[in-house]
Amino acid sequence: MKAMTFKEELASKTKEVEKIIEQFYPEERGEHKLVMEAMNYSLRVGGKRLRPLIMLETYKVCGGNGNLIQPFMAAMEMIHTYSLVHDDLPAMDGDEYRRGMQSTWKKYGEGMGVLAGDALLNYAYETSMQSLIMVSDTYNKTSSESDPEYYVKALEKVHIAYQNIYMAQSVLMHKAGISGMIGGQVVDVLHDGKPMTAAQLDFVFQLKTCALIEASFMIGAILAGADPILIDSFETIGRNVGMAFQIQDDILDVIGDAKELGKPIGSDEKNEKTTYVKLYGLENAKAKVEEYSNAAISELEELKNSGSVFGTLFLEQLIESLIKRTK
Ligand code: IPE
Ligand code: IPE
Ligand code: MG
Ligand code: MG
Ligand code: MG
Repeated sequence: MKAMTFKEELASKTKEVEKIIEQFYPEERGEHKLVMEAMNYSLRVGGKRLRPLIMLETYKVCGGNGNLIQPFMAAMEMIHTYSLVHDDLPAMDGDEYRRGMQSTWKKYGEGMGVLAGDALLNYAYETSMQSLIMVSDTYNKTSSESDPEYYVKALEKVHIAYQNIYMAQSVLMHKAGISGMIGGQVVDVLHDGKPMTAAQLDFVFQLKTCALIEASFMIGAILAGADPILIDSFETIGRNVGMAFQIQDDILDVIGDAKELGKPIGSDEKNEKTTYVKLYGLENAKAKVEEYSNAAISELEELKNSGSVFGTLFLEQLIESLIKRTK
C-alpha cells in the first residue's frame, strides 16, 4: 500500500478527532434547547481541531492508550470554541464571520452569543469529568475479580488514573482562566486603539493563545502518565507552537483569504490592534513564525533522541505545517 502523504494523514486524523469530540456534544432538547443549538452550531464545522489533535498525538507519543483522553479533547475544543464565540462579540472584536459561517452572536443574537459561550465553558468541565466515570467503570469490572493480587494492582491503577485526571483538570482550568486565555484577552481588549510594547504583545500572545496550546500538549502527556520533567518540556513546546500560531494568525489577518480562513481579514486593523506585523513588519513576522516552530521541533527531537517519546514524525510535520498555513 502506498504511504499516506502528510496532507492525507492530517485529513484522516482530523476526521478521527471530529468523530471523537462529536460524541460529547450536548443533546438539543427542552424549553432551553436554543442554547444547545447555538453551542452545537458554534462547535460543528469548519474548525481545524488543532488543539484536540495535539492532545491525541501527544498522548500517543508518550505511550498513552485507551480513551481517557477523549473527554478532555472535547472539553478543550469547547473551551477554545467559547473563546472564539466571545471574541467575535460586538463588545470584543465585533466580527460577523467565523469558521465560514455567521458568527454565533450574528446568527442567534448577542444575548444568546454570551450564553452559548458561557454554556460551552461550563459544559467543557462537565465533559472532562466524564473521564472519572470511565475509570470507575473499569474499577467496577475489575473489582469482581477474585484474585486479591490482581485486585490490589487494579486499585493502584485506578488511584494513578484519578491523580492524572486531577492534574489534567487543574491544568485545563488554570490555562483557560485568569492566568491563561482569559487573562490574555483582558490585556488584548484593554489595548484596543492603544499601542502595546513588544513585551506587552508577547505577554498577550502567551496568555490568549499559547496557554490553551500548552495545555493541549501537557494534558496529552499527563494522561499518558508522563513524568513532571516531560510535562514541563511539553509546556515549552506548546509555548513555542502557540507563539508561531498567533503570529501567523496576525499575518493572515493582513494577507490571508477570508474565504479560506472562514473569518474576516482586516479585523486587527479595524480594532486598531497592535500585532506582530505592525510591530516588526511582515517579513520579520514570517521569520519569527519559523523561528518559534523550529524551536518546538528541536525540543521534540531532543525528547525523541533521549527516548522519552516515540513516533513523533506526524507531530513534527504538524508543527512544521503551521509555518505555511493559510487557514
Ligand atoms: C483562532 O484559532 C484563534 C486563535 C487563537 C488565533 P484557530 O485558528 O485554531 O481557529 P479554528 O478552531 O480553526 O476555527
Ligand atoms: C483571539 O485572537 C484569541 C482567542 C483567545 C480567542 P484573535 O482575536 O486574533 O483571534 P481571531 O483572529 O479572531 O480568530
Ligand atoms: Mg481578539
Ligand atoms: Mg478576533
Ligand atoms: Mg486574529
